[in-house]
Order: sequence, then C-alpha cells, then structure tokens
Amino acid sequence: MRTPIIAGNWKMNKTAAAAAEFANEIKEALNDIAGVDIVFCPPALTIPAVAAAVAGTKIGVGAQNMHYEESGAYTGELAANMLTPFCQYVILGHSERREYFGETDEGVNKKIKTALAHGLTPIVCVGESLTQNEAGETHSFVSGQVTAAFAGLTAADVALCVIAYEPIWAIGTGKSASAEQAGAIIGQTVRGTIANLFGAATAALVRIQYGGSANEKNIADYMQQPDIDGALVGGASLKATFVQLVQNAVV
Ligand code: 13P
Repeated sequence: MRTPIIAGNWKMNKTAAAAAEFANEIKEALNDIAGVDIVFCPPALTIPAVAAAVAGTKIGVGAQNMHYEESGAYTGELAANMLTPFCQYVILGHSERREYFGETDEGVNKKIKTALAHGLTPIVCVGESLTQNEAGETHSFVSGQVTAAFAGLTAADVALCVIAYEPIWAIGTGKSASAEQAGAIIGQTVRGTIANLFGAATAALVRIQYGGSANEKNIADYMQQPDIDGALVGGASLKATFVQLVQNAVV
C-alpha cells in the first residue's frame, strides 16, 4: 500500500517570519492526521525557520528547486548539501521553473540523480499545456517527460521518487482537471510509463500526486481514484484551511 502524500508548494509567498508563524499555526492539527505524509515546501530563504517550526512533528520540509552540481560558480543557486540539514524533499521540474526559468528535461534528470545521491526525495513535476491538451498530445507529451526525467535511473531509485502530474492549464486557474481525467492520465500515462520502463513492481510502489487547483472541497474526489496518491497543492496550501484539505484526503 502506498502512503498518500500531500505537499504544499508555497511558491514565492511568505517571509521567514510569516512562514514560521503559519507553520506554527497549523502544525499541531496536521500532526494529528494519521495515514498521510505531509510536506511544506516554502521559499528557500524561509526553509530554516519552517524546519525549526515543524521539528518534532511528522511534517516534512521540501525545497522548490535545487541545482544538480555539488557546488561552484552558479550565482543564485542552491546545492543539495545546503538543503539536507533542513529538507527531506525537493520539488524538481515544476512547470513554472520550466516555463519561466528555462528548465529542461535533461536538467531535471540531472537534478533527480543529485537529489537521490543526497538522500532527498524528489517530487518530480510533469504536465501538459492547454494547447497540448486540446491537440490530444497529453499522453505522448507527459509520457515523454516521464521517460526523460527518469533516464538512467535504477528501478529502486525510481520507486523512492514522488511524481506530481500537474496539467499546466489547471495550475492557479481554479479550473481543475476532473478526478476521472486526472486518474486516467496518472494511471495510464504516468504509472503506465513507469511500468513500461521499470516494471510493474516499481510502478506499483511509486507515489503519484495530482496538482492544479486542488482544494479542500475537491481533494476527496481525487483520492477516490486508485492511482492518485495525494496532491501537490499551491494556493490552497497557503491558508489554514490546508488542514481541512489534508483531513479530507484521508477520510
Ligand atoms: P495551484 O494549487 O495554486 O493550482 O498550484 C498547483 C501547483 O502548481 C503546485 O505545485
């Protein structure tokens, strides 16, 4: 059985003080919710404050990005060993990173390898644009992203990863994919591609989240889908109602 995982991607929101205050406000209620892994992914500079706030709870901490090199002349970047004192997870290849910061499948692949080498669990993001969706290219595009992301990895490494299927047209738009739509793509395309590449046993182990306008009202519908193992939540992870969202994910 795969343990569901709900991660909040706070994106570029909250100062260190506000992030710690918010974590303190909701951590106890979240800590009481059994049967689900919970992760906060705050902005990089707020990670130490959030990690300190959630210490001693079940809540994990993740970064939103990371460089694949160990160190060096990469202005503005963060290396894996800078994250590991505070983080257990790292979001890699988010569509906003791909769209606004030029991230490529090849770079995402390198980052996954570096993260795993440092014991960080990658949350690997994939998902198609509206144009691709309307052109009927979702399966081929997303399957290609999954194939490229995990190229050269062992089945054992892939099983440790979390994958987030986030259709770009559903992110921050309030226009979420239907649970049936998301469940079918996650099952057939994402898990199906992992099964083809790494075998059915690995595909049965890897946890796959839905992301895109997930909230406390629709989360239960997604969780009904047998192939959906949780959510990567943006806007709805910034408010205290995130507690309700996590609760509704496990009932
Ligand atoms: P929203 O939940 O705000 O649509 O964001 C989804 C997302 O991009 C999470 O990584």
